[in-house]
Amino acid sequence: MNVIHNKNALDELLVEWRHNDEHIALVPTMGNLHPGHISLVELAREHAERVVVSIFVNPTQFGDGEDFDDYPRTLERDKRRLQKVGVDAIFVPDVDTMYPFGLEDATTVSVPRLTENFCGASRPGHFDGVTSVVARLFGLVQPDAAVFGQKDYQQQLVIRHMSQDLNLPVQVITGETVREESGLAMSSRNQYLDDDEKQTAASLYEVLLSAGTELQSGKRDYERLESDSVERLTELGFTVDYFAIRRAQNLGIPDRDCDELVVLTAAHLGDARLIDNIVVTI
Ligand code: PAJ
Repeated sequence: MNVIHNKNALDELLVEWRHNDEHIALVPTMGNLHPGHISLVELAREHAERVVVSIFVNPTQFGDGEDFDDYPRTLERDKRRLQKVGVDAIFVPDVDTMYPFGLEDATTVSVPRLTENFCGASRPGHFDGVTSVVARLFGLVQPDAAVFGQKDYQQQLVIRHMSQDLNLPVQVITGETVREESGLAMSSRNQYLDDDEKQTAASLYEVLLSAGTELQSGKRDYERLESDSVERLTELGFTVDYFAIRRAQNLGIPDRDCDELVVLTAAHLGDARLIDNIVVTI
């Protein structure tokens, strides 16, 4: 397994792989890997002969007062995990490799509209940071495919949009959310929860599922369902950022006949901001 820190070393590998007509799948991460990330690596394997995992805690996607400094950095453990699943290279760039002109002069890639609501509204500038770093990773690694998690539903839609709109020659693939036994979606940020909070956190998924059941049984009063769910979560101790029923395809407001919905939520519990979603096909 190659551990690569700079563009030259990466280029050498890419030349060799391209020479052998091998396809490349990229799994972008910020490290602190858990089984959710590993499932994306396994999915990447199905799409290419070579798999690259990038680990970069991207400063431009964190807002002021967010957890950039505290974000768990566990490179040695991550390397061991990736060695076990068998990836071809881990790309661990520093800020200068990712932003060669410096952060002040960096080009920004920005997707409008799709980023206005939900996590885009709660975290201004966040998605510009995500699209800008993912575009850079696509440029550096030149993958044929890149894998993202459904867990960050809006993020994968935004990246799909960017990729299609800019004609980037990368197939964007979405992998399912991996959960704890309790149903809690795995996340690096779950570490900010104590044991009691972890138990409560599992209800986020339960409330999503019961909204899904209501939708499947024919309920179409989306606003009512949203506000009832917010009430339930608030009673459980969450501070809800949003709870929304939208078109799965583009997060637009669904009409009564829409048969592909996504139920998305973000909520604070203790020191953690948790996000989760389910897709409901009717
Ligand atoms: P990070 O939070 O490290 O997540 C990396 C990838 O893992 C993302 O595509 C995310 O959706 C996916 N993921 C996280 N938890 C998951 C789970 N429980 N099941 C399945 N997949 C899961 O998302 C980012 O990093 C960054 O924004 C990044 C795309 C790397 C750009 O900096």
